[in-house]
Amino acid sequence: MSPPTLKTRARLSEVRYEIRGELARRARELETQGRSLIKLNIGNPGAFGFRAPEHLQRAIADHIAGTDPYTHQQGLPEAREAIAVFHKMRGTPNASPERVFIGNGVSELIDISLRALLNPGDEVLLPSPDYPLWSAATILNDGRPVYYSCDEADGFMPDPEQMESLVSPRTRAIVLINPNNPTGANYPREVLERIVAIAAKHGLLLMCDEIYDGILYDDHVFHPIAPIAGDLPCLSFGGLSKVGGLGGAQWRSARQRRLPPRDGPARRVAPMRQRAGTVRHRTGLAWHRYHHPAMPAGRSPA
Ligand SMILES: Cc1ncc(COP(=O)(O)O)c(C=O)c1O
Repeated sequence: MSPPTLKTRARLSEVRYEIRGELARRARELETQGRSLIKLNIGNPGAFGFRAPEHLQRAIADHIAGTDPYTHQQGLPEAREAIAVFHKMRGTPNASPERVFIGNGVSELIDISLRALLNPGDEVLLPSPDYPLWSAATILNDGRPVYYSCDEADGFMPDPEQMESLVSPRTRAIVLINPNNPTGANYPREVLERIVAIAAKHGLLLMCDEIYDGILYDDHVFHPIAPIAGDLPCLSFGGLSKVGGLGGAQWRSARQRRLPPRDGPARRVAPMRQRAGTVRHRTGLAWHRYHHPAMPAGRSPA
């Protein structure tokens, strides 16, 4: 007897995820034929020789024994404290541990935040090209992606005028990916200021994916969104996968819920990674989640 075919969610058919989809399959096919490909489809510094610094690796190894219990629902208090201090140093004086939420990577937090924000048919302004998870998470949380252009002819910069022309009564949020994956563009302060002004004028949530904040070309300077946003509702997303070189640790932590309760090491990686994050912050590297005063304190967004 052949196994039954499972029906999946209808909206799944709208999701295109080429970094792991048809294009990636075709690339694998070509590789098996002996072709050598340069892969620009996935941001995976670890696969290109960027190693996690030794002190982060040591922090993970040193804390295996202390990670049996669940952590606080928002993440380890000392990690959140370190992240808040980091944000204060980066120009956000009202950053506090109560507004920091730690998850299994930015991927999970993007999904949770959009789930908490969107009602069916709500619109989210997304960059085109985007990192496809943002589109997927918008669609799978019943929202509608509306794309603003970041064209090569404009140095991959968003045009705030075009962005504002796309705002409708259903628009809920503006998503920025800065520094940008896939284009590599790093947005100047003036562009960010104009986008913040649009969010203020139309009452939109700013969602800024800043996971590449420490990976910049040449003498570029990164401008975090939170100090520019000031009192406006704003989420900034950062993580250990890129600058910290811990993409693989996050992958293991993301799987932890599916493991049997006594499967020790893998289910412990999430809190260990948080300890690594604490160390990373104390040593001046980036990792943060910042939530605005408008968010209820002490509660996860979902
Ligand atoms: C722009 C962007 N945001 C988020 C992620 C995923 O982050 P994490 O590994 O923390 O889930 C990636 C990974 O490639 C990315 O490129």
